[in-house]
Amino acid sequence: MQKKTVQDYIRTIPDFPHAGIMFRDVTTLFADARGMRLCVDQLLAPWAGEEIDAVAGLEARGFILGGAVAHQLGCGFVPIRKKGKLPGATYEQEYALEYGTAAVEVHRDALPAGARVLLVDDLLATGGTARAGIALLERLGAQVVGCAFVVDLPELGGRKALEAMNMQIHTLCD
Ligand code: PRP
Ligand code: ADE
Repeated sequence: MQKKTVQDYIRTIPDFPHAGIMFRDVTTLFADARGMRLCVDQLLAPWAGEEIDAVAGLEARGFILGGAVAHQLGCGFVPIRKKGKLPGATYEQEYALEYGTAAVEVHRDALPAGARVLLVDDLLATGGTARAGIALLERLGAQVVGCAFVVDLPELGGRKALEAMNMQIHTLCD
């Protein structure tokens, strides 16, 4: 029998959080030791052996994945949080979602200028969240060396939008 792929550990829940949204639920991936290890190893593979100063994770599931990727790469982790959660002085960026709008923040002193950063999240849909994260990291003077996501929903255009910015995009499944 073939071993399970990362995609096999992810379930789709219809009509969450709104009617018509097919929600990709990665909690079933995170809960499985083999699935999680496979996923983290595959996420960081394009950058293994490269000099990465930090991983930045997008709230919320990007924290779980980004922390594990940072541990594996031997670098620090920077959280990009939803507005109002970080205690220090922040930069803020608004963005549009597949459903609704929101804003994310990063600490102004999170990274030194010139830091090479890998951005991690669970899912790429419209790319609005990732573009907001990139904008914040670039405002810190960091160099975003690439973005890694578990799931790509290509029909929502995020990948195209990020590639149009000359960003290296790595995704594991759709
Ligand atoms: C999801 C997902 C990404 C984002 C992708 O998070 O975890 O961060 O949507 O969508 P986009 O490419 O269209 O921006 P969500 O906004 O649902 O927030 P949550 O992590 O707090 O649940
Ligand atoms: N974020 C935006 N669209 C999503 C989806 N379909 N599943 C999970 N997270 C999402």
